[in-house]
Amino acid sequence: MEIRRAFLRAALVMSVGMLGGCDGDGGEGPIVPPPPTPAEYADKHMPAEWWSDPSKMEEGRKVYLGEANPDVNCASCHGKDGRPVKAGARDFRNAERMKLSSDSAWFWRIAEGVPNTKMKGWKSKLSEEDIWRLVLFERSFALPGKAWSEEKKQWVEASGLAPASADTE
Ligand code: HEC
Repeated sequence: MEIRRAFLRAALVMSVGMLGGCDGDGGEGPIVPPPPTPAEYADKHMPAEWWSDPSKMEEGRKVYLGEANPDVNCASCHGKDGRPVKAGARDFRNAERMKLSSDSAWFWRIAEGVPNTKMKGWKSKLSEEDIWRLVLFERSFALPGKAWSEEKKQWVEASGLAPASADTE
């Protein structure tokens, strides 16, 4: 009897230990809203007609994959299909996380990087247009067909995004 109890306790301790040791998930961490976008980027937005322009997104795909400029290869960390291949890189397929960032927030992160991480700033290697092309392609993994509505402060169907002048609501 004593032996069996000791054995059970040992088994319990082992399984609890294993549970505790298995939560490493590649650095994604809990889903929390991103920090506020700095003022110098907060007013930058995707040119409205680009959201539904497949040719702009295709150009973004080439930049992302390093086909346009071998010095810029987002896929080398974020993966060709948005599934990270380097530890800690954001998973672009995670809609719950991605939808918390605006188009301006993504632009800012791509331009300036994220301090103290492997994500460096790319603004010396990319034009503003290229950064917007990248935002279009990045959006396609988790939020295909969506556009950021600055008015609603959320992602909406790009097809339903009325031009500002025609907005009667
Ligand atoms: C050397 C690896 C590496 C490369 C190359 C890289 N990234 Fe990143 N990227 C990261 C890491 C790591 C993070 C997560 C930083 C953090 O912890 O917030 C990140 C974060 C991001 C974010 C912020 C996401 C968020 O939720 O705040 C965006 C946007 C992004 N990367 C886009 C790009 C684009 C576009 C390129 C290509 C121009 C690129 N990255 C190239 C490693 C990389």
